[in-house]
Amino acid sequence: MGKENFENWSKEELIREVNKLKKRKKYGIVWEEKAEKVAKFCKEKLPVLEEIKSKEIKKDDKKPVNILIEGDNYHALSVLNYTHRGVIDVIYIDPPYNTGNKSWTYNNDYVEKEDSWRHSKWLSFMSKRLYLAKNLLKQSGIIIVTIDDYEIGPLRLLMDEIFGEQNRLGLVTIMHNPRGRSDDKFFATSHEYALFYGKNSKFTKTNKLTLTDEQAEQFHFEDEISRYRLLPFKRTGSNSTPKERPNLYYPIYYNEKQNEISFEQKKGFDEILPMDSNGGKRVWRWGKESLLERFKTEIVIKKIAAKKYSVFTKDRIKEGRRPKTVWVNPKYDASSHGTILVQKILNKVKAFDYPKSLFAVCDCLEIAAKDKKNAIILDFFAGSGTTGHAVLEINERFGGDRKFILCTNNEENNGTATKIAEDVCYPRIKNVLDGYLKKSKGKLIYNLPGGLKYYKTEFVDAEQTDINKKKLVDKSTEMLCLKEDCFDLVKKGKFYQIFTNSRGKNLGIIYEDEGIEPFKKELRKINKKFVVYVFSLDESAREEEFEGVSDLVGLKPIPAVILNVYKRIFK
Ligand SMILES: C[S@@+](CC[C@H](N)C(=O)[O-])C[C@H]1O[C@@H](n2cnc3c(N)ncnc32)[C@H](O)[C@@H]1O
Repeated sequence: MGKENFENWSKEELIREVNKLKKRKKYGIVWEEKAEKVAKFCKEKLPVLEEIKSKEIKKDDKKPVNILIEGDNYHALSVLNYTHRGVIDVIYIDPPYNTGNKSWTYNNDYVEKEDSWRHSKWLSFMSKRLYLAKNLLKQSGIIIVTIDDYEIGPLRLLMDEIFGEQNRLGLVTIMHNPRGRSDDKFFATSHEYALFYGKNSKFTKTNKLTLTDEQAEQFHFEDEISRYRLLPFKRTGSNSTPKERPNLYYPIYYNEKQNEISFEQKKGFDEILPMDSNGGKRVWRWGKESLLERFKTEIVIKKIAAKKYSVFTKDRIKEGRRPKTVWVNPKYDASSHGTILVQKILNKVKAFDYPKSLFAVCDCLEIAAKDKKNAIILDFFAGSGTTGHAVLEINERFGGDRKFILCTNNEENNGTATKIAEDVCYPRIKNVLDGYLKKSKGKLIYNLPGGLKYYKTEFVDAEQTDINKKKLVDKSTEMLCLKEDCFDLVKKGKFYQIFTNSRGKNLGIIYEDEGIEPFKKELRKINKKFVVYVFSLDESAREEEFEGVSDLVGLKPIPAVILNVYKRIFK
């Protein structure tokens, strides 16, 4: 008898089935999980980082170190789950849009339009990365994902599922292609979307955008309170005659030299009445009491002829405006401020297909991080590096030491020999930091302080033998330096290394038992507090070996600290 014949089920079996049905998903998104090779690979090999020293850009030791990681972002995000858990302020990503136009590969094959699994593959790909990314955000952190019509529906449901509908901050429509897509059959698409979510909206704070050029032009006066424009103090339109508002019709007596007003005729004061250009009587906007109270800060009186004056109020605009959900402005045009900009920076045509407008990314980051002067901003679909460029740009505009972490693979840009990480993203950031020449005017653009470290993802065998644990420790230096934000090598012993940073933090890494004593000797000489990673085949941090110097060291066992994170995420 089949199990579906409920009459034969025991009470316990029925209760179990009811409980199972109760737990079943009632609303949201479902898809067929399509296994991904890069994720399966982590069962056999664990990702680590290898620094490419020749690509380091070092200009100013006091500025934060920016990071570029070349490799698959599933692996890069796994590494960051150890080094940057809960410390990222903003994530901005522009993932493949899954258009079916040979723009995105899954398990090394292009995902074609005809592929009936295409949405499932895209969702499998995105969900894995978004779950890893969520772990990296601070409670107050914000994630921004751009997308267009191909996947906006699935993405929104996926984001609601991972980040929570209650944490959705907004869905912005950006006109990035004012000409419209020429190959569309029915409508010429001219916009895309940016979805904003907070990790926990209770702790989210967003910033207002600075004024648009038009607003700044309109409100071009400024005093100690704010920018303002002048509007007539005389009423027009309805309720503007003394018959309608008798209390608002009164003479103002004005002394120009002392910039004073009175409501009584006095020597040295000229009479001003609210008359229109035809000599008709009008009324003022406020009564006498309000005018007296606000005269000094809110009223401007201008002389137009001998003993003739015009009276104005200050119409104020606060510096900044709440961002709207539709962004239409030539600055968001991805062709002029993305494609052509990248061509100029790299002095190369066909450098990169479809970069974002620098200013669209700047505005997203302004909303999410203008107030966070030391924010860490991550983009794990970095492409040509617009997000890194935008971080440097907003530091210039608003001050601050925000830093970026970019990850991108090094695939060839659309069938050309141009490799995205090495030939586009890296030189773009280098040229923005070092400055590049604006061709037409021979003018140097940028030249900024700050540096960059370049890493590639590498792998060690995952099977937990003692030999493999030792190999992981030997390859962990970059990850530990990144985690502790401590990169300046002070001493390289045979079995240990010492690093520091400009903020006085010290890091010790002990790779073998033989390194413990020489490290302790060095520690006594330096006599400062250290974070110390000490090789250990188990979870113990070898405290007994550091008894005489225990007040100077915060001990952590490697590789256990890394393995524990990998066990959780690759389970
Ligand atoms: C839409 S583009 C991002 C463009 C970027 N916003 C800009 O303005 O230049 C997506 C980028 O992600 C990269 N990418 C795609 N899949 C990736 C993966 N699994 N790991 C790392 N990078 C990936 C591609 O190389 C591509 O350059």
